[in-house]
Amino acid sequence: MAIYLGIDIGTSGTKTLAIRPDGTLLGSAVAEYPCSAPRPLWSEQDPDDWWKAVVATVRRVVADNRLDPKEVRGIGLSGQMHGSVFLDAENRVLRPAILWNDQRTAAQCDEIERAAGGREALVRLAANPAMTGFTAPKILWFRENEPQLFDRCRKCLLPKDDVRRRLTGEFATEVSDASGTLLLDVAGRRWSSQLLSILQIDPALLPTVYESEEVTGRLSAQAAEQLGLTTDCAVVGGAGDCAAGAVGNGIVSEGLLSTSLGTSGVAFVHSDEVKIDPKGRVHTFCHAVRGAWHMMGVNLCSGGSLQWFRNALCMELARLPRGEGVSVYDLLMEEAAGVEAGAEGLLFLPYLSGERTPHADPFARGAFVGLTPRHGRGHLVRAILEGVVFSLRDSLAIFEELGVPILEVRATGGGAKSPLWRQIQSDAFGRTVVTVNSQEGPAFGVALLAAVGCGEYASITEACRATISLTGSQNPAEAARARYDALFPLYQKLYRDLKDDFAALS
Ligand code: XUL
Repeated sequence: MAIYLGIDIGTSGTKTLAIRPDGTLLGSAVAEYPCSAPRPLWSEQDPDDWWKAVVATVRRVVADNRLDPKEVRGIGLSGQMHGSVFLDAENRVLRPAILWNDQRTAAQCDEIERAAGGREALVRLAANPAMTGFTAPKILWFRENEPQLFDRCRKCLLPKDDVRRRLTGEFATEVSDASGTLLLDVAGRRWSSQLLSILQIDPALLPTVYESEEVTGRLSAQAAEQLGLTTDCAVVGGAGDCAAGAVGNGIVSEGLLSTSLGTSGVAFVHSDEVKIDPKGRVHTFCHAVRGAWHMMGVNLCSGGSLQWFRNALCMELARLPRGEGVSVYDLLMEEAAGVEAGAEGLLFLPYLSGERTPHADPFARGAFVGLTPRHGRGHLVRAILEGVVFSLRDSLAIFEELGVPILEVRATGGGAKSPLWRQIQSDAFGRTVVTVNSQEGPAFGVALLAAVGCGEYASITEACRATISLTGSQNPAEAARARYDALFPLYQKLYRDLKDDFAALS
């Protein structure tokens, strides 16, 4: 029987998993690598590290689970979005890849906006405003700051697409990841000749764009030997990690929205039509589903806020005796569960790392507002959980304003393991929040795309229907819902009130 691999080239490491066409997980492996910050606000990685991690994890998954390499028929690639790998004419990497969380390109973002005729004109062309993390500003930065190296540059690839080049020898990408370059005509699902000409970027620099389930090439003899696989193995387009994660949770038809609570928090909604926020507050990208798009709002410090609180203020809990398998997070969640909705008038703004949605503001900062001597640790934790959920509600409110239907909310990511955090989502969104069986994230989503590309299913929607099912649901409690409805406008107003002070402080 066929086996499909999903490979997710993340920021902290690469995860590879193997599945059967029915979605059964055969095994997975992770390999980590460093991220370097040679200057403040910079974030870079060595593409060779990604490749070594891909080879190591594929070999480990095959060996540890005694898989027959001849059964591996297809590979799907996912990865951190927006990063830039610059190659010369001999396909040598010219400089370390500049990553999605690198903030060096503020001046280039302004330049792009000006060249496009203003922010709104740019949003009309690219479906999104210029963000420091996106790829086009990185190309401009490279051209302006390292002109001699740039002159030798012949290709610019996204992280997973550099891995694809090493697997197949092909220069290819797919619509979901290409959307985050700011060079795609998102409505037309092809490179935008208009944007390329405005920014004076040679189209030859970019790879061919495919749909996510399309076969982009086959393993070369050299790659097959390195991975211990055969050349009878297709590599499909795959998807950027956000779209791939959503596919892995079955967010592949109208009405479905996922919230993902990891370090960052993402609200992701499928849309059958291309809908663009004229104010550019949420992203509109092509989905990994043919003929569909998705909108996405990102809070940069969701689980990250709780992690900060644990590390900064709760490490003595780690030293106390606890039950087997009980984490410090479990203890904090228990304390927060003992506090009523609204944390007795305490609000938290989860902007410790600046913010992306709805306020694209690198100077935004975290804040507890409303502290009294009555507030203890449980209140602080509860306020953090609620503040993070309010930041996602901001995105949901924008999706609704744009007429994107939301019929079901699926909670995913590490934070979704907490029944309390899921209940707060249900109460604050005023909606049923469900969980699904698949917990493997982006790598699972692209393994399914590989199965579709190799003909196991007619579409990714069909593949998700066959492999993903609901495991639980929680409904809003009326009193908590009313409390959150009353607090949400106050939470929104706090950012507006503090915006200038945040900028002055930072
Ligand atoms: C998406 C984004 C991140 C990266 C890293 O817009 O910036 O999710 O893809 O995971």
